[in-house]
Amino acid sequence: MNIVLMGLPGAGKGTQAEKIVAEYKFPHISTGDMFRLAMKNETELGLKAKSFMDNGELVPDDVTNGIVKERLSESDVVNGFLLDGFPRTLKQAEALDNILSALNKKIDAVININVDPNVLKERLSGRIICRDCGSTYHKLTNPPKNEGTCDRCGNHDFYQREDDKPETVENRIQVNLKQTEPLLNYYKNKGVLFNVNGEDDIDSVFGKIREIIEK
Ligand code: AP5
Ligand code: MG
Repeated sequence: MNIVLMGLPGAGKGTQAEKIVAEYKFPHISTGDMFRLAMKNETELGLKAKSFMDNGELVPDDVTNGIVKERLSESDVVNGFLLDGFPRTLKQAEALDNILSALNKKIDAVININVDPNVLKERLSGRIICRDCGSTYHKLTNPPKNEGTCDRCGNHDFYQREDDKPETVENRIQVNLKQTEPLLNYYKNKGVLFNVNGEDDIDSVFGKIREIIEK
């Protein structure tokens, strides 16, 4: 099954992706994670992406489409994949259709996690991430079971994302809001769009997503 997870910044794409991957074993393809890794390794891609990400802008479509095309040519996607944060523009959605039709594949479900923008700001300001395994928590709504210790790997070192500063968050939300409506219409017209209320607690949201996947 080939799935796209959509949602504004902080809607819970990464959080739900962790759960989906744990249960269904699809490879998780997050363009944001790919860019952050490239930035950390100071590769050419990382240098290209950095100024856009630091300002909460979208990385240009040709760059983003290129890395997704390369990733989808790998062998682990044969039995399905989970795209997180791609596509984000109509151009990207069209590019994805072309990439997939050349591989004889298609998108089976686009799961859109809906959250009010005011809630998103709270979520992003409280987000902490394990430096070792990348597990995501929230200081108030989703803390590690034992304070200061990652549930998954036991590490004690957490960080906050550079683009979670309040000024950048505001721009990220506005930039994404502008692109979202046409993209949702695009997938609605194809009959593959499923909306989920992302303001419920994490497990309830996952329950809804599981129902969609099982259908
Ligand atoms: P990306 O990394 O994809 O960031 P984003 O879309 O802004 O989304 P986030 O990762 O911030 O949020 P999320 O939805 O994953 O939420 P999370 O689960 O962490 O992209 C970063 C940048 O890369 C972009 O700005 C752009 O520059 C570039 N980029 C990436 N893709 C691109 C593309 N396709 N085209 C062009 N540029 C691209 O949850 C957030 C917090 O909320 C956590 O603390 C979590 O614990 C908590 N939480 C989650 N769910 C719940 C819940 N149900 N209740 C309470 N708390 C919750
Ligand atoms: Mg994410």
